[in-house]
Amino acid sequence: MQKKPTTVVLIITGGIAAYRALELIRLLRKEGFRVRPVLTKGARAFITPLSAAALAGEKAHAELFSLTDETEMGHIRLAREADAVVVAPATADFMAKAAHGLADDLASTLLLATTAPVLMAPAMNPRMWTHPATRRNTAQLRADGVEIIGPESGEVACGEEGEGRMAEPAEILARVLALIQGRSAELPLSGKRVLITAGPTHEPIDPVRVLANRSSGRMGYALAEAAREKGAEVVLVSGPVALSAPAGVDVRRVETAEEMLRAVRQALAEAPVDIGIFTAAVADWRVKNASASKIKKGPEGPPVLELEENPDILATIAQARAGRPKLVVGFAAETENIARNARAKLKRKGADIIVANDVSEKTGILGGDETELLVISRTGEETRLPRQSKRAAARALLDLLSRHP
Ligand SMILES: Cc1cc2nc3c(=O)[nH]c(=O)nc-3n(C[C@H](O)[C@H](O)[C@H](O)COP(=O)(O)O)c2cc1C
Repeated sequence: MQKKPTTVVLIITGGIAAYRALELIRLLRKEGFRVRPVLTKGARAFITPLSAAALAGEKAHAELFSLTDETEMGHIRLAREADAVVVAPATADFMAKAAHGLADDLASTLLLATTAPVLMAPAMNPRMWTHPATRRNTAQLRADGVEIIGPESGEVACGEEGEGRMAEPAEILARVLALIQGRSAELPLSGKRVLITAGPTHEPIDPVRVLANRSSGRMGYALAEAAREKGAEVVLVSGPVALSAPAGVDVRRVETAEEMLRAVRQALAEAPVDIGIFTAAVADWRVKNASASKIKKGPEGPPVLELEENPDILATIAQARAGRPKLVVGFAAETENIARNARAKLKRKGADIIVANDVSEKTGILGGDETELLVISRTGEETRLPRQSKRAAARALLDLLSRHP
């Protein structure tokens, strides 16, 4: 019989999302966990220890220098008893402290004293999340073996849009289960190397003008983040996008299709790739007569641009004899006859799997937050992933890919 994990120490820090930790306590208890809540001083400004204790059916701990707890060295006991430590929500402040190993309250001290796996669910204003200091701290925490879940995109409490919402309590619960049952060694993509291309390419007309397309890069970035969360080592070759690098992912920025192909080949040459996912909207053509200096408006009228074909990155890699990823996954952005065109593309390019999506204007998928995918494999299986956020779709797609023989 599977060993039932026992104790989750849940550190709640001082963010507006602290109330959502109460739902997490409920879910963890329902799953059979013993939950030992620890509230920072900040957290106590948002929720009371009484609510946490009532839901956990346990004392909620708060003070490092508490006489009754510390006669038994409460912080060490909590640290030792934990099968997992979850920090939800994790404030920017708490993450900064943890990244530097500070130990000036009960929560930060027990975090240093534990050998249990640690999962943090950041929640903060999107600017705080993208601030270089927070990026640095997040990267450091990951390097120290801390698992990070989320944050999600959407409207945050301060009314701004962007990444900063705490991951859903149900998703945190799922990660806790994975963490406790398998620790990271058993994550579905642990030990795998994943290469992803994302975004548009920019093909110069002259030094200031480019041929571009509307790809936002969100799908590729969501896949990179999800692959990282599932334990993979991830290289993300990205065209020009307005997205910040996902934490823990090796991002290589390029502009043109030719540069993208070079970067992909370079990544393949460095080490074998298990899964190559080609989501980038690579320009089919580049300007043959691109000008080395800015083209001036003049009496001779507008310039005539002559186009030439760009390399087909997906086909080139899928048909490569050496260094081909074990599994080659292409994306097909179609506006009509989605399934038929995607099946034809799968054959033509030599990929193992094609993921088709309908990018006609009415769907709002190209450049949008949501997507609906049709996954077609060479062996003829077809799986439809219903309309959902690109992040959720990315996780679902990676689950499919990680089960692919
Ligand atoms: C109304 C309000 C909401 C806040 N929300 C957040 C938040 O969502 N995320 C965050 O990182 N900090 C937030 N802060 C700032 C933290 O509360 C502050 O950095 C505090 O020192 C965190 O303490 P702790 O990390 O020890 O819990 C908020 C502050 C206030 C006054």
